[in-house]
Amino acid sequence: MELQEFVASLESLALQAEKAFDNANSAEEFEAARVQFVGARSGQMKAIQKELGSVQAESRPEAGKKLNEAKNRIQAALDAAQVRVDSSGASTKVTGPLLDPTLPGTRRHLGRVHPITQTIEHLKEIMGRLGFAVVEGPEVEDTWHNFIALNIPEDHPARDPLDNFYLSVAGKTAVDVNADEARLLRSQTSTVQIRVMEANPPPVRIISLGRVYRPDPADATHFPMFHQMEGLWIERGVNMAQLKSVLRMFATSYLGGDVTIRFRPSFFPFTEPSVEADFLWNDQWIEFGGAGMVDPNVLKAVGYDPEQVTGFAFGLGVERLCMRRHGVLDIRDLYRNDLRFLHQF
Ligand code: DAH
Repeated sequence: MELQEFVASLESLALQAEKAFDNANSAEEFEAARVQFVGARSGQMKAIQKELGSVQAESRPEAGKKLNEAKNRIQAALDAAQVRVDSSGASTKVTGPLLDPTLPGTRRHLGRVHPITQTIEHLKEIMGRLGFAVVEGPEVEDTWHNFIALNIPEDHPARDPLDNFYLSVAGKTAVDVNADEARLLRSQTSTVQIRVMEANPPPVRIISLGRVYRPDPADATHFPMFHQMEGLWIERGVNMAQLKSVLRMFATSYLGGDVTIRFRPSFFPFTEPSVEADFLWNDQWIEFGGAGMVDPNVLKAVGYDPEQVTGFAFGLGVERLCMRRHGVLDIRDLYRNDLRFLHQF
């Protein structure tokens, strides 16, 4: 196609379009003109644009320029018509909205607190109301705090290297390290009882929440790292009835309703007598941890006088409490980092 011919048809199209837009007095007329001239599928502007390819190569830059000029003229006519039609209130029909306020917004994904951390905060809050102060202890421990002061003798199976994460110390593997130097990832939070009593004279009334480590293969109810809540109350005249009341109030508060508690005789080296504490939940007895009256040997180990003070201690599994309350059936779900699971809390 000749350049002149192309330019002529552009001119005629632009004139027609300007006329049509100038004469459009309703949204319908405006829309009809829009489709006819600049419609994306069969608009005349589209058609003429296709002919650009048939203009001789040397004239094509000039033809392209003219095409743009015509486009701009038509766009200007369209814009003017749109403003006129919109403001005349002839129709409320929106033709090409830039923003649709009825669409949902783009959601920003905020992180949230892990269910175990949420549980820990909740437990602290409940025990705080019962007068227990929160303390923390180290996760890497020596054998004095993890075993010896807790009345766990050298030959006790709980000290077996196969049941603990011993660390290599000063370049020596765990087996070659003597008992004084040995370090391990604490296997229980009872270590904190010792640290608190060593640092404070009685009375003490504390809880400690944190991680403990045992080389158990992971399954639905075991994980090599989990959390415990340790409790300790030492004061003149503290007795087992108070232990039961505290645990009952705790369970009632955490699980809701009036929770029934029972004690079953048990054994722990650091308590005498020792019990397993169970609570009744949905007509089932659920074990929630160990407890007992602190053994006089433990009190002596930290320099307390067992003739002057007594007390109780307990140790509960945090995961187990969290799982009961939320109906989680597999402890591994808590540590898979699967957002589909975590988002539910
Ligand atoms: N430390 C025990 C364990 O990990 C739990 C425990 C039992 C803690 C009795 C206590 C207690 O304070 O009195 O299995």
